[in-house]
Amino acid sequence: MAAHNELPDKMKALVLRSTSEPPAIETVPTPQPTLGSAVVRVLAASTISYMHDIYNGKRNYPFPMPIIPGTSAVGRVVAIGPDATKLKPGDLVFVDCTIRSRDDPADVFLAAIHEGFTPGSAKLMKDVIRDWTYAEYCRVPLESLTVLDEKRLTGSQTDGGLGLSIEQLGFVARMLVPYGGLRDIELRAGQTVIVAPATGPFGGAAVLVALAMGARVIAMGRNRDSLAYLKQKISSDRVETVAITGDMEADCSELKKYGPTDAYFDIGPPEAHASTHIKSCILALRHGARISLMGGYREDIPIPHVSIMHKNIRLYGKWMYEREDIVDLFKMVESGVLDLRTVEVAGQFPLAQWKEAWDEAADKTMFDQVVVINP
Ligand SMILES: NC(=O)c1ccc[n+]([C@@H]2O[C@H](COP(=O)([O-])OP(=O)(O)OC[C@H]3O[C@@H](n4cnc5c(N)ncnc54)[C@H](OP(=O)(O)O)[C@@H]3O)[C@@H](O)[C@H]2O)c1
Repeated sequence: MAAHNELPDKMKALVLRSTSEPPAIETVPTPQPTLGSAVVRVLAASTISYMHDIYNGKRNYPFPMPIIPGTSAVGRVVAIGPDATKLKPGDLVFVDCTIRSRDDPADVFLAAIHEGFTPGSAKLMKDVIRDWTYAEYCRVPLESLTVLDEKRLTGSQTDGGLGLSIEQLGFVARMLVPYGGLRDIELRAGQTVIVAPATGPFGGAAVLVALAMGARVIAMGRNRDSLAYLKQKISSDRVETVAITGDMEADCSELKKYGPTDAYFDIGPPEAHASTHIKSCILALRHGARISLMGGYREDIPIPHVSIMHKNIRLYGKWMYEREDIVDLFKMVESGVLDLRTVEVAGQFPLAQWKEAWDEAADKTMFDQVVVINP
C-alpha cells in the first residue's frame, strides 16, 4: 500500500556498508517528506570520474555508513514537506549535493560524498542528511532543490524550447563547480583567464563556463592531444592552449605570449600538487590579477609569495559554489548563453549497472561528455 502521496513503501537503492566491500542494490523503505524537505523521484543522477575512488576508500573521503551514495541529480518532486511554499509535486528540479547547515552555513558538506570539515557538518550528515540519489527516491532539503523551467529547457525547438534531455541538464552539476570559483574572482567579459589543468572533466567545464561568461581562456594540460581536441571541438577564437611541459619558466613564457592575464583558475587533482603549472600560471599574471584555487590538493602547493605580494594579486579558495550560483547558471542555460546541446551523453545506465556507470565515468572524461545513472 502507498505510504504517502504517490510514494511506494519500498524502493530500490544502492547501499554502501563498508569501503572494503562493493555497494549492492537493496530494497529499503522509501523516504518520506518531513518539515523542511521534499521527496524527489530521481531521473538522472550524475557521476564523477573518480566515483570508484570515493566509495572504495582510496580518496579517503570521510562519510558515515551505511549510506546510499550519489551526487547531484535531476529529478521530479513527488511529495513535499508542510513548509514548502514554492515547490509542488510534479516540478522538475535540480538536486544539489552541497548541503549547508541552516543555523550555521559554515557547516557545509557534500551529500553522500564528504562529511565536510567541522563537527557540525559531520553531525548533520550522520544524523539527518545521509542517503542520496543512487536510489529511486531521495529526500532532499527544500533549499537544495531548484525548480527548472521544464518547458524552456526540455521543450521542442518549435515550441520555443531548447530540446535538452534530462541527462544533458545534469551536466550543470559539473559546470557549477567552476562557476563558483570563476564568479568568486569576478571574471568579466573580455578578460583572459588561465584554466589549469583544463583537460579533466571539471577543468574542461571551467573552459566552457568561462567562455559563456564572455572571457578568453588559456587552457593548460600535459596531454597535447586532449588540448588539441578541446580547441578543435570548442572552435572559438577565444580559446588558446599551452602545454604543461614540466619546465616552469618555459611554460610561463608561453602563457605570457597571450598578453596580460587577468585571472587564473586552478582545479588540479590531488596527484598534481607538485606540478610546475601552479607557479608558471601565477608568475604569468598581470598586476592586480585574481586566482581561484579549487584543486583537490592534499599537500601544500608552492606559492611565489614575492610575486603575489608585489602584484597585489588576490588569492581565493572555493569549495563548490553558492546557492544563488545554481539559479544564475540555469538562467545562463535558459537564455542560451550557455549551450548544453553539444553535451554528449556518453553513457546512461540503470541503477543495477552502477559499476559499469562508474567505469564509464572514469573513461569518458572529455570536457563535453557526461555519464549518468537513471535509477
Ligand atoms: N573545490 C571544489 O569544490 C572541487 C569540486 C570538484 C572537484 N574538485 C577537484 O578537482 C579535481 C580535478 O577534477 P577533474 O574532474 O577536472 O579532473 P580529474 O579527473 O580529477 O583529473 C584529471 C585532470 O588532472 C590533470 N592531471 C593529472 N595528474 C596531473 C599532474 N601530475 N600534473 C598536472 N596535471 C595533472 C589531467 O591532465 P592531463 O591531461 O595532463 O593528464 C586532467 O586535466 C578533482 O580531482 C577534485 O579533487 C574540487
